[in-house]
Amino acid sequence: MSLSYEELAELDEPRLVTPIPGPNTQAVVERDERVTSPSLPRAYAFAPERGAGVMVEDVDGNVFLDLNSAIAVCSTGHAHPLVTEAITRQAGKLLHYSASDFYLPIYSELCSRIDDIAPMTNTRTFLANSGTEAVEAALKLARNHTGRQYALAFFGSFHGRSYGSVTLGASKAVYRAGFGPMLPSVVHAPYADCLYSFSDLEHPDSPGYIEEVIFKRLIKPSELACIVVEPVLGEGGYVVPPRRWMEMLKSMCDEHGILLVADEVQSGMGRTGKMWAIEHFDIEPDIILSGKGIASGMPLGAMTARSELMTWPKGSHGSTYGGNPVSCAAALATIDLIEGELQVNAAKIGELLKDGLLHMAARHDFITEVRGLGLMLGVDFSSVQIADAVEKAAFERGALLLQAGERAIRMSPPLVINERQADAGLRIFDQACAAVTAAA
Ligand SMILES: Cc1ncc(COP(=O)(O)O)c(C=O)c1O
Repeated sequence: MSLSYEELAELDEPRLVTPIPGPNTQAVVERDERVTSPSLPRAYAFAPERGAGVMVEDVDGNVFLDLNSAIAVCSTGHAHPLVTEAITRQAGKLLHYSASDFYLPIYSELCSRIDDIAPMTNTRTFLANSGTEAVEAALKLARNHTGRQYALAFFGSFHGRSYGSVTLGASKAVYRAGFGPMLPSVVHAPYADCLYSFSDLEHPDSPGYIEEVIFKRLIKPSELACIVVEPVLGEGGYVVPPRRWMEMLKSMCDEHGILLVADEVQSGMGRTGKMWAIEHFDIEPDIILSGKGIASGMPLGAMTARSELMTWPKGSHGSTYGGNPVSCAAALATIDLIEGELQVNAAKIGELLKDGLLHMAARHDFITEVRGLGLMLGVDFSSVQIADAVEKAAFERGALLLQAGERAIRMSPPLVINERQADAGLRIFDQACAAVTAAA
């Protein structure tokens, strides 16, 4: 018999009722592979039907523990009642009116709410439909405001798949292959002084690299409009940079009038135990970008900048759907929940999960590092084959995980996860590692 929403949300662990993947999933996969774009990078055969909190049921009635949050998106858990209520209420009133051309009240209400929580004071916000659009908006604003054309980003980073953001990203060559030429005037430097995603290559310290290589040999700092950085590397492997590195970036930006853009599409919205990951470094960016977790699954991105930077003229940027009222309603409810208790829960359960993973690392030799902040945790393995095998073994046992970087698995559960569900996640992760050892 089908579980109610509450019953599903309260489950502590997976319930598998068919072999994985089940027959209905296989049928979905078979149709999908005939009609969808082959560019989509599917991880494994999971076909979700409904979700409640941390639990997701597939089309065969198997219940999984979602340690991905649908890739760091469903921050408040699947279909949080307060979020779905806000969405339903708004959908019953007004589905759409373009905020680019008219004064949509809920659009400015959300911008004002983001101003309240932003890590810098006195901001304005542009709302978009996705993370990549927020990145594009930041690039355009930085060039337009500074009158400079160059942007600097980091190896290992991911900023999205539209042309500006894919040019900024440098995590995997496949994202760029066959799509050139990329946007001109974008340069890259090593991310911090640690390049987990580049195996064990010796490399120069990154601030030194920016001064010695980029500023001396490629472009003058006075030509650089912005430095775009993920305060915790997301797709690139959940890497937390050293504090002094972030501080050096900030002082470099201040010295040369370069705008510091924090891409918090993945790391923001309470995921690291603070509203923004950059708050762990006590640094104020000039522009902050959000997406993913901001609206619990509704499409929304935000580019928030210090007010005095928003000098671009009327008509220079806009969007038909960006900041549509239903996504705004979801975001307002999401922010209330995150501010209320979820960011605290993210810090608390994040500690518990990290401790458990560190203990596990002592038992499984192939775990080479456990890192992260709050509920943004990365587990590095000795090879990508092992990371692959652990991801698959966890899936077969009912836990949804996803790889990141060269050979890591990321753990980014919904911020509503409780201790019992975290324990179940650890237990399954441990069993998956043991099964991979046994198979080897
Ligand atoms: C840090 C970061 N920036 C930007 C993006 C792009 O967001 P979207 O897929 O919504 O365009 C992502 C997506 O994974 C991301 O992790």
